[in-house]
Amino acid sequence: MKCTISNIIKSTIKYKNALIKGNIVAIFATLLTVVIPLFIPMLVDELILHKSHTLTGWVAEHIMPMSVTGYLLFFLTVVLILRALGFLLNVYQVKTFTSISKDMALNLRRELLTHLKNLSLKEYETHSPGAISAKLVTDIDTIDAFVGTTVSKLIISVLTLLFSAVVLLMINWQLALFILITNPIVVFFTAKLSRKVGILKRAQNAAVEKFQSILSDTLELFHQIRAANKEDYFFDRVEESAESLKERSVDFTYKSDRAVRLSFLVFLGGYELFRTVSIFVAVYGDLSVGLMLAVFGYLWVMMTPTQDVINFQYALASAKAACERIDRLKNLKRERRVVSGKNPFLESNGVSLECEALSFSYDGKSMILKNINLSIDANENIAIVGASGSGKTTLSNILAGFYPPSGGDILYNGISYNDIDPKMIRQYCHMILQSPKLFNDTLLFNLTLGRDIDISRVKQAIETAQLSEVVDKMENSLMTVVGRDGIRLSGGQRQRVAIARMILLEPKLVILDESTSALDIHTESRLFKELQKFFKNRTVITIAHRLSTIEKADRIFVLEEGRVVDSGTPHELRLKEEGYFARMV
Ligand SMILES: Nc1ncnc2c1ncn2[C@@H]1O[C@H](COP(=O)(O)OP(=O)(O)OP(=O)(O)O)[C@@H](O)[C@H]1O
Ligand SMILES: [Mg+2]
Repeated sequence: MKCTISNIIKSTIKYKNALIKGNIVAIFATLLTVVIPLFIPMLVDELILHKSHTLTGWVAEHIMPMSVTGYLLFFLTVVLILRALGFLLNVYQVKTFTSISKDMALNLRRELLTHLKNLSLKEYETHSPGAISAKLVTDIDTIDAFVGTTVSKLIISVLTLLFSAVVLLMINWQLALFILITNPIVVFFTAKLSRKVGILKRAQNAAVEKFQSILSDTLELFHQIRAANKEDYFFDRVEESAESLKERSVDFTYKSDRAVRLSFLVFLGGYELFRTVSIFVAVYGDLSVGLMLAVFGYLWVMMTPTQDVINFQYALASAKAACERIDRLKNLKRERRVVSGKNPFLESNGVSLECEALSFSYDGKSMILKNINLSIDANENIAIVGASGSGKTTLSNILAGFYPPSGGDILYNGISYNDIDPKMIRQYCHMILQSPKLFNDTLLFNLTLGRDIDISRVKQAIETAQLSEVVDKMENSLMTVVGRDGIRLSGGQRQRVAIARMILLEPKLVILDESTSALDIHTESRLFKELQKFFKNRTVITIAHRLSTIEKADRIFVLEEGRVVDSGTPHELRLKEEGYFARMV
């Protein structure tokens, strides 16, 4: 669902019961407190000027006649009790409305997270994690603040203004008309100013996003930065964006505050004019001094709600800006889904693959893979070689279901990728990344990824992956925390963890993208020897620059600038004097 203010307001329907309860309480709270300014000023007329006996007469008749002090104390008590009741009802109401607005913010975050979870990899790669987290935190907070003020304060404010207007109408209708005219002028004036505030809010939130993304990138690459002795350069960049964030924040905070005050000034102008007119009516008209004081009291009562109505308009402008930014995230393409797709992997042991005129481009312009035609039998052991940048990793990513092809087709056991859900492809076709990523968690978690796997199977996988010695030497063996990105493990150990992880996933197609490049030749050859049993009845694609890694392959494909330029058994290729394979060591 698009993030718009009307959709946000529509989504409050879900909280109908709480909203109704909260609003009834709000009406009671307003009714209780809105009559308060009437009492004490009316006593001026009744006790000092002896003009009328409305309040005192009512008390004398229904309770008992009292002295002046008695009446004063009585009404003081009534007013204090009313204020205390108003306070309690307001607290309840704020609690109800706060939980609604926080719940809505949580739902919005959930919705965005679901969207992110299903994002296509290509889209995800174009956004920094910092920028995305800024939207999930700052922009949703902006909307939360808007909903919070809208659902709670706006209703009370409008009610208070309405009730006050009614009481004023009863006191003196000419005066009341006056205020009914001034308020729309203030609202109109505010609406004009709020547009600019919306623009400033958008700039401020964009600055937060820039700061957060540059900060997270810098922290992520800290090791690299230190290696290059470039701490000053990179942290200066972060500082610069912090300065720009400060400027944007000052701009927004001070200018929006100025706009709020300016709007309020217009209201205050009307307020003073109103008081002057009240005195005029008291002198020349039929308004008593007590009622004049009551009018003054109502003007005071109306001040906060007017300010709230003004603030609402600015919060609305900010929320609109935040919505626009969140929508940009929502507009990112999701990964294709194939509902009720086929599962061609269930029956067979390995996976037969056929690429038909396969082409691929990351940006829609330059073709990285061009017209690739190849077929791989189930249970075949294939190698792909080629110069750096020739497209080996790209091809593996496509075969493993990370990106859809830009043209052509891939048949998995004879079924087109178009008819298979990408999640299904990834479940059966596992690619070990060139530099595997590990979670900052225990070794066990990194192997099982949270699944409940029998410990004997885990130990078997560790044994096959040549990790037993490493695990035995670890302080807490399988429960040792490996650090961020597996920093406490060596490059070769990390690669072996990834291989053990793959063994536990039991894929039917295994793609090893330079997955053993960090191992010494002896460990690597031991590893492949152990893996033979596992590889039996599975399709294996190995990418390597080292000849020794791929010597045992059934067939080798040579990739050059995104095209398959040669293929054959290692023996056939070795006979050729030219070509990439011949140049491998
Ligand atoms: N995520 C990406 N977005 C855009 N372009 C990419 C992306 N990944 C790779 N490329 C480009 O695609 C081309 C092929 O890259 P690829 O990683 O497939 O090469 P490779 O054969 O695996 O190289 P190497 O042997 O160095 O690992 C390169 O020119 C690279 O710039
Ligand atoms: Mg590569």
